[in-house]
Amino acid sequence: MAQKAVKSLIDLVGNTPLVEISGYESKNHLKANIYGKLEFFNPTGSVKDRIVKEMILDAEERGLIKPGDTILDNTSGNTGIALAAYGKARGYNVAIAIEPGVSIERSQILRAHGAELYDFTEIPGAIEAMTKPDATFQSLLDPMAAFGKEKGYFYINQCDNEANIKAHYEHTAPEIWDQLDGKVDIFVAMSGTGGTITGVGRYLKEKNPDAKVVLVQPDADSLPAPGKTDPKIDGIMLVDGIPEGLAPLFYKKHGFNYDEVITISAKDAYDTAKEVAATDGLLIGESSAGALTAAKKLAERPENAGKNIVVMVADGGLKYLSTSLFR
Ligand SMILES: Cc1ncc(COP(=O)(O)O)c(C=O)c1O
Repeated sequence: MAQKAVKSLIDLVGNTPLVEISGYESKNHLKANIYGKLEFFNPTGSVKDRIVKEMILDAEERGLIKPGDTILDNTSGNTGIALAAYGKARGYNVAIAIEPGVSIERSQILRAHGAELYDFTEIPGAIEAMTKPDATFQSLLDPMAAFGKEKGYFYINQCDNEANIKAHYEHTAPEIWDQLDGKVDIFVAMSGTGGTITGVGRYLKEKNPDAKVVLVQPDADSLPAPGKTDPKIDGIMLVDGIPEGLAPLFYKKHGFNYDEVITISAKDAYDTAKEVAATDGLLIGESSAGALTAAKKLAERPENAGKNIVVMVADGGLKYLSTSLFR
């Protein structure tokens, strides 16, 4: 039965499908079941629709923003696109500082939504913050906060906004849990702000302390950086094996511990993306392909035979057609 009419696009966020990636399982003779949480079904095409909805509604409820105000954030694109779409529709202006290495499609979509665009490296103090030897995750965000203050913009700050985790704890995770009738053994995702892993991870572990949360990281050559060419994985930060102060803030703040870290290369992720396009008709983005690459490694372990592995498909492949992902 068709879904009843809704009042606005923001009402369509979430309730994304969970699909078994069965062609890929068969081709690779995997004995575990791999499911993709297809976040590109959200109206602006990524998992970030969820956090943007939650952050805007939260800021409105707390009286922090009113129509006519400008909302500011730094993003690798997806959060910006969702902010531009829903923010504009609710009467706000939206200013976005784009992080280095973002695909052309994302900045084009942001322009189409009429967002005010800045290069992150143009924000006063950003380069100094990125290059100083004692940089911390927090010190990378400080120039944004100062810029917002100077301009009179509301810095919504996805990296330190509790509504980010709440969106995943209250929606993404319960959806996955229900979609598999509580039979979730392993959750696999890459991390940017860490909102997905900490929010989904906390919920799953409360429901089933034996559920495993696997953090997938790119190797050092696969991280985006100013001037870095493909292959690389956009929107992703390192969490494990780096000085504590450089890790995304949510992990320490919430004392969240993942169970395992799997490191993958962007090259392997790109190969996975091509493979799953052929086996299942799924065009997935870079971080999703990285997570699926790690999920395959998990599915190959004899102890995981018969288990359900859920992979976060944070966005689809269409925003990466200009990159070498599918070439
Ligand atoms: C494509 C993509 N995948 C994964 C992530 C990571 O999600 P999170 O910020 O919840 O850690 C992001 C953003 O940060 C992203 O844009």
